[in-house]
Amino acid sequence: MTLANRNLVTIDDLSNGEIEALFSLADEMANSPKEQSELCQGKIMASLFFEPSTRTRLSFETAMLRLGGRVISAVDIGATSLAKGESIADMAKVVGSYADIIVIRHPWEGAARVVADYAGIPVINAGDGSHEHPTQTLCDLYTIRKERKAIKGLRIALWGDLKHGRTVHSLIYALARFGATILFCPGPGLDMPEHVLRRLSTEYKGELKKCKNLNQKPERTLFPIDAIYLTPSSPHQLAMLPDISIQVELKAGVDALYVTRLQKERQTPVVKEQELKKGYPVVDKKLLKGKEFRKALVMHPLPRVDELTYEMDTDPRSMYFKQAAYGLPVRMALLALLLGAKEVTIPEKEDSFARKIDYPVYKRESGVRCLNPNCVSNQETEVRYIKPEFKIVSRQPLILRCIYCDHELHPQYVASSEWHQGKLENKKYHSADSHFARKIKPENLIVFASEKEAQARQFKPSSYTKR
Ligand code: CP
Repeated sequence: MTLANRNLVTIDDLSNGEIEALFSLADEMANSPKEQSELCQGKIMASLFFEPSTRTRLSFETAMLRLGGRVISAVDIGATSLAKGESIADMAKVVGSYADIIVIRHPWEGAARVVADYAGIPVINAGDGSHEHPTQTLCDLYTIRKERKAIKGLRIALWGDLKHGRTVHSLIYALARFGATILFCPGPGLDMPEHVLRRLSTEYKGELKKCKNLNQKPERTLFPIDAIYLTPSSPHQLAMLPDISIQVELKAGVDALYVTRLQKERQTPVVKEQELKKGYPVVDKKLLKGKEFRKALVMHPLPRVDELTYEMDTDPRSMYFKQAAYGLPVRMALLALLLGAKEVTIPEKEDSFARKIDYPVYKRESGVRCLNPNCVSNQETEVRYIKPEFKIVSRQPLILRCIYCDHELHPQYVASSEWHQGKLENKKYHSADSHFARKIKPENLIVFASEKEAQARQFKPSSYTKR
């Protein structure tokens, strides 16, 4: 099977079988690097890194060179025509006419999707704001698989800035799909965003339980779990009392502790660094003496700052430099596949714990916009051509999910485009949670950002409108 001309914008762009096949190819790349040196001869990779990077950029560039290809790069927005007000869509079209593949890191959430929509060549997301970092997830899964042979049934604890860390956002969807149990250990005020948790609890077959009370137990202050996602592949059945269930889970120990740094560059509103660091959980030898970590792989996407002590570097459980090194064979395999230089065999029956859901789409010329100020669809240079687009992920309550950044909207007022006989005076708006609103077909749904907007568009309140 060929993966040629595909994009990797989110981790969902690869199935479990495709990821497994990519890992087999990465093994081949690592075992016989010299034999790969002509695979991508004559191909050019555009390396566009508009945020700092050491590992992702340099491993991608090395990977392309090791495959016999060449690299063109831009590493500073200020040195490109984006600084003159060019849109990223225009940039994508132009770079797409020079190169064979684009790897992009950009501070706006959803930027890689827009580049993929316009470039006409394969695009790889190397990190878009706080949204996703799918190739880091490939390195993480590859590391776990190398050390533990399989991901199914493992317990993985995610630690630190779960709110802004894009690596953990891609990673949890992959872990859930492969059948891992996930423990959430956020720093203060840095919980996993609600929209990520909602996706986890509706689109995968496991069960998500929040357990705030556990934080208050003195014996657990070192291990601040606030939620658990229990995969159905685990032999343990989740008890009615989630706190007790977690105690049971913890006794068995965690298989990996995935540490992340405080993403100080993404905090809004801007807070003093010292304030941010206060109470941020640190992983050190003392913590890892706990029984629950006896066999835990200590992972980190790097760079680290203060959250993981240097004394851990000689501990055999520490995996973070291996994780970074695996970036090379994994990214070599990915480039070779998307450039059509290699093909793979995908197992016919894939073992996935994801539910298949086809959400209806909401896309209209005017009306609601994504509420995330960092979403690509809200940027001055991009609003000229991007039409807001959402998946309707729930009707009761009504929830729309932005297709660019995954942030949610919870609209209060809606209407139907099928108003009676098309007469203007019959244009009515309704409360989104009303009996009538729920009956509106997705293709007829009109969503308002506010009641004021409904009235400005000459809709009148119906008897189904709560005022
Ligand atoms: N893990 C990671 O993305 O590292 P860089 O920011 O150095 O690329």
